[in-house]
Amino acid sequence: SMQRTTFREMVHQAFQGAIERAFPDLPNQQAVVAPTGNPKIADYQCNNAMIISGRLPQPPKEKPAPAENGQEKPKLSKAEQKKLKAAEQEARNKLQNKVAQQIIDALPESLPMIAGRPATAGGAFINMRVDTAWMGQVVQSMLVEGIDKWAPRLPHKRAVIDFSSPNVAKEMHVGHLRSTILGDTLARTLEYCGLEVVRLNHVGDWGTQFGMLIQYIAESRPGGINDTNIEHEDLGQLQALYKKSKERFDADPEFKERAKAAVGRLQGGDAECLQAWQRICKASRQAFQAVYDRLGVKLEERGESFYNPFLASLVEELAGQGIIEDSNGAKVVWVEGQENPLIVQKADGAFLYGTTDLAAIRHRLQTEKGDWLIYVTDLGQAGHFDLVFGSAKKAGFILPKDDPGHPRIDHVGFGLVLGADGKRIRTRSGGDNVRLSELLDEAKERCQTTIKDRREDIGEEELDMASSAMGYGAIKYADLKNHRTTNYKFDFDAMCDLKGNTAVYLLYAHARIASIVRKADRPEVSDGSLAKSASIDLEHPAEVALALHLIRFPEALEDMLEDLTPNRLTEYLYILSDKFNTFYTNCHVIGEAQEDSRLLLVQSVAVVMRQCFHLLGLTPLYRI
Ligand code: ARG
Repeated sequence: SMQRTTFREMVHQAFQGAIERAFPDLPNQQAVVAPTGNPKIADYQCNNAMIISGRLPQPPKEKPAPAENGQEKPKLSKAEQKKLKAAEQEARNKLQNKVAQQIIDALPESLPMIAGRPATAGGAFINMRVDTAWMGQVVQSMLVEGIDKWAPRLPHKRAVIDFSSPNVAKEMHVGHLRSTILGDTLARTLEYCGLEVVRLNHVGDWGTQFGMLIQYIAESRPGGINDTNIEHEDLGQLQALYKKSKERFDADPEFKERAKAAVGRLQGGDAECLQAWQRICKASRQAFQAVYDRLGVKLEERGESFYNPFLASLVEELAGQGIIEDSNGAKVVWVEGQENPLIVQKADGAFLYGTTDLAAIRHRLQTEKGDWLIYVTDLGQAGHFDLVFGSAKKAGFILPKDDPGHPRIDHVGFGLVLGADGKRIRTRSGGDNVRLSELLDEAKERCQTTIKDRREDIGEEELDMASSAMGYGAIKYADLKNHRTTNYKFDFDAMCDLKGNTAVYLLYAHARIASIVRKADRPEVSDGSLAKSASIDLEHPAEVALALHLIRFPEALEDMLEDLTPNRLTEYLYILSDKFNTFYTNCHVIGEAQEDSRLLLVQSVAVVMRQCFHLLGLTPLYRI
């Protein structure tokens, strides 16, 4: 069966063992083996000899002869100083090279993944090349056994990812779009790695604002509190309602009192209030779902209200543990190193956003049994999550590091989405809020034009399918290709550019590869039998470079998962299509003696590209 360890890991293990054998008296030497980025020198390099030789007894310093009869130090001429320095440098180099040689000598006899023996070029660096026959086999067995075999193995079983999480009765904004896209990619990647993934939509569906809304509906709608039309309003209408009720709330103290009474009734379970609240939630849910459907994103709604029944007892329990303190009548939890405490209950008895998050983290760990929790929100909430995580640790919900049940918990913060002009983003219809549906519409329309320009004969259905794939893909990719913590400009021209680092470019690259395989007209490629009979023989440098990048796919995913940065994957994908282009301009496929081998290589590129698309939430295209 196929080697699931990455090349990086195999080489690391070999060098780690060699270093420990060669230098048993130097503890804690981590082997460092990295790609060179310069194929002329080597594929990979180990640079441990530099560090190790620095920790060994140094060669004696070359001292000039002492002065004959004075105390004065002899003065060295510039040339003499230079000579002395050079001699010292040479002694250092010699030592480093000796150390490198000792590491090489301690390597295992057989290193099937490396061509020949690793060697130095006289200095500290140990250079090596990946064995091309081995690499061809690795790529080929991926084709035979399937791309799932290249999924990194992770120590976790069950991830709970909190993402998207818009607020009821408010327009879903671009921040929520970013959370949706990032969260979906992380969920897809962890699913690929074999984890069970719970995708939670922590919708803001609870709080005092609902008393205000319900009271306003009761007083302003023809049907009063029982007005069922609310159910069918769109988010724009709901948001307008919200705005008006807030204005009233702020301006009219008597209304404020009635709104507060409505909160009380809602929390007390009054049927009419509950139904009115449910209608507002239902209308919002439909609007959110329309966006998720277009983007192909799956989410399980578990809003703030879900945790409401746990809040009172949670605060009591924390008080029982002695970790609650009083702050002007409010109940708070202090977390070491934080400037402010987490407020869990206001003086008037109300619970807050943070109380809900504390109940939620406990539920996700203890009931949901997540061993990896992820929260995807804007960076502005980083402080909030520091407090939630710190409080949860204090309360014993998060087991300590040395406990086998210690979970991984990440706040995946992201930057702002700005308009192409660098200011607040707006849609064509203007107004205060961007309509996500309008952004999606525009991207799709633009791609329709692109596709029609190249294929006038395309049918309606295929055009719709392809332009959705391209348009929504363009938006997703433009988001994911930025490091998540940076602010980026939402720019239709840039994201739909056929020649840039865009989804449009990549989807076309894949379609081109698909058409090569089609043109070859070899059914053995698609039915998999060629992968079982022929072999991948890497000869041309462009073939080697392409295969080398292919086998790094699992490494790219590991890098992405280390700090949850999908841009590591988009970068990988973009370079893959670049290496493919170089290969394709240099190496003919169809009709050549190497046709079988090259078809398999091309097919492997398509498979890895499609896996990247899948993880990024893009739908592949097969025709240009
Ligand atoms: N509804 C919140 C917002 O719009 C995001 C919720 C994030 N998740 C959480 N568990 N706090 O900002």
